[in-house]
Amino acid sequence: MNPKTLIPCLALLSPMALAAPPPVDPAMLELADQSRCLTCHDVDETLRGPAWRDVARRYRGKPEVEEILVTKVYEGGGGAWGNDYMSANKRAGMDNIRILVRWILTLP
Ligand code: HEC
Repeated sequence: MNPKTLIPCLALLSPMALAAPPPVDPAMLELADQSRCLTCHDVDETLRGPAWRDVARRYRGKPEVEEILVTKVYEGGGGAWGNDYMSANKRAGMDNIRILVRWILTLP
């Protein structure tokens, strides 16, 4: 098990769980890893790209952005979070990107 999947499990078991960020679905992190998102993204921290919890916060209650974000992740794009640009992620495939974007948008 890699540390990224271990940490959420430990957070669940720990008496400090209430103080820790809410755990994330390890299967989704695995898919994000395989889709090479994690070279630029983290759930909690801003790396090259925005922290995914920040993305979820920004678009909370706006389900209409889902398809726009799916297309943007697939084709690449910029202008929403700063001066950096997200390169295209076509190799990840539309279906995986849709699964990931849906999950990102529901992150607490
Ligand atoms: C090369 C680095 C890189 C990779 C790889 C990458 N991203 Fe990004 N991502 C970025 C950057 C930079 C931004 C901010 C773009 C902007 O300001 O509009 C971003 C923004 C986003 C956003 C928010 C877009 C918006 O308009 O608010 C989502 C959602 C996202 N990425 C998901 C993903 C997913 C899912 C993957 C994997 C399939 C992925 N990213 C791979 C760099 C990356």
